[in-house]
Amino acid sequence: MTSRAKDGSVGAPKPPAHVAIIMDGNGRWAQQRGLARVLGHRRGIESVRRITTECARLHCSSLTLYAFSVENWKRPKTEIRVLMNLLRKFLIDERPTIMENRIRLTSIGRIDDLPIEVVRELRKTEQMSARNDGMVLRLALSYGGRAELADAVKRIAREVEAGRLDPDAIDEETIRAFLYDPELPDPDLLIRTAGEMRFSNFLLWQVSYTELYVTQVCWPDFREPELAAAFEDYRRRVRKFGGLTKVAT
Ligand code: IPE
Ligand code: IPE
Ligand code: MG
Repeated sequence: MTSRAKDGSVGAPKPPAHVAIIMDGNGRWAQQRGLARVLGHRRGIESVRRITTECARLHCSSLTLYAFSVENWKRPKTEIRVLMNLLRKFLIDERPTIMENRIRLTSIGRIDDLPIEVVRELRKTEQMSARNDGMVLRLALSYGGRAELADAVKRIAREVEAGRLDPDAIDEETIRAFLYDPELPDPDLLIRTAGEMRFSNFLLWQVSYTELYVTQVCWPDFREPELAAAFEDYRRRVRKFGGLTKVAT
């Protein structure tokens, strides 16, 4: 499929509009090199910067990155501390890149569970980029797909209790409206690095008809050529959404 690029050229292949990534394998990347796991996380930040910039350059409209799951709180305190510090630093250091690329940064997850100094920088970067009209970068932080559904059900139940919502009127769109970010589009492509063939509780509601792409490459080594390979693979998929004919996306 071809599209007209913003510079007017025809023929540039169209990237998936909505991309989601399970950024896995930082620890293994480090361990394979005899390094401490946290060094893998540190190098993974460079991949975040490169992939975000590349997705924006290719005119993807939405990129959702799984950065920290609700289950990741089970990890050793020292590793969590490093991850939270890296996140805080990322949110500060990347502001110029975010603004230059007109990216709007937002977040999904149980944000209140994060350390206050992370929440503060997150809110600052969100506010600063709120009027940007380019790609939306969503960070999934303290995120779990089941937690998201449980939180949504709780809020729906309160609406019913208050008499503002008729239970018979609840449909799929009602549920979507109560997710962390109702604007989050269903991903066209879900990439998982480091080879595990599972969802690990990511975007359970939203991935119903998402195309999956799993690569053996660990996240710190996932850069522009690996993204191009994933997009190329996606281009060959035939999406039917339960019907019998190919649906253009
Ligand atoms: C992904 O890398 C980063 C987070 C989950 C925060 P891992 O830390 O899970 O790396 P592996 O899977 O142990 O190699
Ligand atoms: C998924 O990776 C979570 C993130 C990438 C943030 P995990 O490393 O936590 O997943 P499992 O434990 O291998 O399923
Ligand atoms: Mg992992």
